[in-house]
Amino acid sequence: MKSKKLAGEKAVEYIQNNTLVGLGTGSTVYYTIVKLAERVKSGLNVKCVSTSSSTTKLAKELGINMVPLHEIEYIDVTIDGADEVDCKLNGIKGGGGALLYEKLVAKASKKVIWVVDSNKKVETLGKFPLPIEVVPFSYKQLYDKFYSLGYNPSIRMLNESYYVTDAQHYIIDLHLDKIENPYVLEKELKMMSGVVDTGLFLDMADTVIIGYEDEDKVKIIER
Ligand code: A5P
Repeated sequence: MKSKKLAGEKAVEYIQNNTLVGLGTGSTVYYTIVKLAERVKSGLNVKCVSTSSSTTKLAKELGINMVPLHEIEYIDVTIDGADEVDCKLNGIKGGGGALLYEKLVAKASKKVIWVVDSNKKVETLGKFPLPIEVVPFSYKQLYDKFYSLGYNPSIRMLNESYYVTDAQHYIIDLHLDKIENPYVLEKELKMMSGVVDTGLFLDMADTVIIGYEDEDKVKIIER
């Protein structure tokens, strides 16, 4: 998709020599990783932290130097995708199942950039199902709780089995349609035992780069 490529590649301009870079997950950041690898081949020196096994595999194959999160103090800039972004630059992430590591990497970053195509920009969050990463041991109790609250849960599947995250958890997607107050919802969900994290990424993105299918330039929004 041209819009994803434009946004993904543009973000590489924010990466400086001799820095630590967080690499997100998904089909938009794919273009960031490929472009970054080209710059690494021409001499750019960076160390990167991954947000998923799929990103680690891709980055390593392309010759990017990877380092685990526990070996560093902070990350200079993280580039990641998003499933929805509102006008306050709050978003939903985790459509690809990597929300927990994506949030941990974002929290360790001085700057967070999201690369998205224009379809991801919304007035109100919630049309995209909100992923909740849960401890498998109590997934049924959490599913029932979400159901009783009217949150329309579904357990994420992969080939007729429950989808398992890189951290060995399950994901329950909440089909909410509209999230009136994401801050209140985040607090409520994070208070529930067995919820590891949610796909609500609030006050985290500093910059959003939006690509369009019918234009050759991107739009950049700063917090
Ligand atoms: C991965 O778990 C997600 O948070 C992705 O960052 C998000 O789904 C965006 O992916 P695409 O760029 O493939 O749309």
